[in-house]
Amino acid sequence: MKIIIKKDYDSLGKEAAKIIKEAIRQKPNLVLGLASGNTPLGLYQELIKAHKKNEIDFSKIIVFNLDEYLGLSGNYSQSYNYLLRKIFLNQINAERRNFHLLNGGVKNVEKYCQIYEEEIKKAGGIDLQILGIGSNGHIGFNEPGTSFDSKTHLTELAESTIKDNARFFGQEKDVPKRALTMGLQTIFKAEKILLLASGPNKADIAAKAIEGPVTSEIPASILQKHPNAIFILDKSAAKKLTPIP
Ligand code: F6R
Repeated sequence: MKIIIKKDYDSLGKEAAKIIKEAIRQKPNLVLGLASGNTPLGLYQELIKAHKKNEIDFSKIIVFNLDEYLGLSGNYSQSYNYLLRKIFLNQINAERRNFHLLNGGVKNVEKYCQIYEEEIKKAGGIDLQILGIGSNGHIGFNEPGTSFDSKTHLTELAESTIKDNARFFGQEKDVPKRALTMGLQTIFKAEKILLLASGPNKADIAAKAIEGPVTSEIPASILQKHPNAIFILDKSAAKKLTPIP
């Protein structure tokens, strides 16, 4: 596990974009796992800029999304499927046929999750997975207590996640209570992982995930064992880390 600390949110996005651009240059058909939420928005803006300047060709990338609310189909404006296309994928030259975006409107969830795992396998596995971190340490929607062996599955959102995500829905009661998410094992199998954390409200959990014990109570702590995981934090998210003498 490597830790990079940048001075603010903008430079965090730029740093993450630099790593992703390099990865696409090395492997134009990169299999990229995408997170939603606020934290990666700056990163996606940077990648859109790179596209506009013709710096990067995204036409061969293959994308998988990390998670989705159950019950929200891809045309619902708060679904991650819709948002990822709107804020990022539709603004670069990525090809629709290379999108694997979870659909929260599905009926046979179990089968659907199995098929999603098979699609990841068929693509050769995730080369680079982008993650944020929840205030309770979740990655994807793998809430505290989720098994490290989990694959893509249906999960119940923790109370704290429902509260945190009420900002996207207007009110708490409108936040879906369940979601589909890549499992911790699915995420861990990615060749490289970039976890982004920004702002003082992520400082406590970032310190626990990075310096605390590896425990399923803090799902992100599993990344301490990953050979190629990079935590990119801004200064305010890094302020509870033990200072290096
Ligand atoms: C989103 C996701 C979540 C978020 C996390 C942090 O696809 O999987 O784990 O990354 O809840 O959200 P933000 O970035 O909004 O603080």
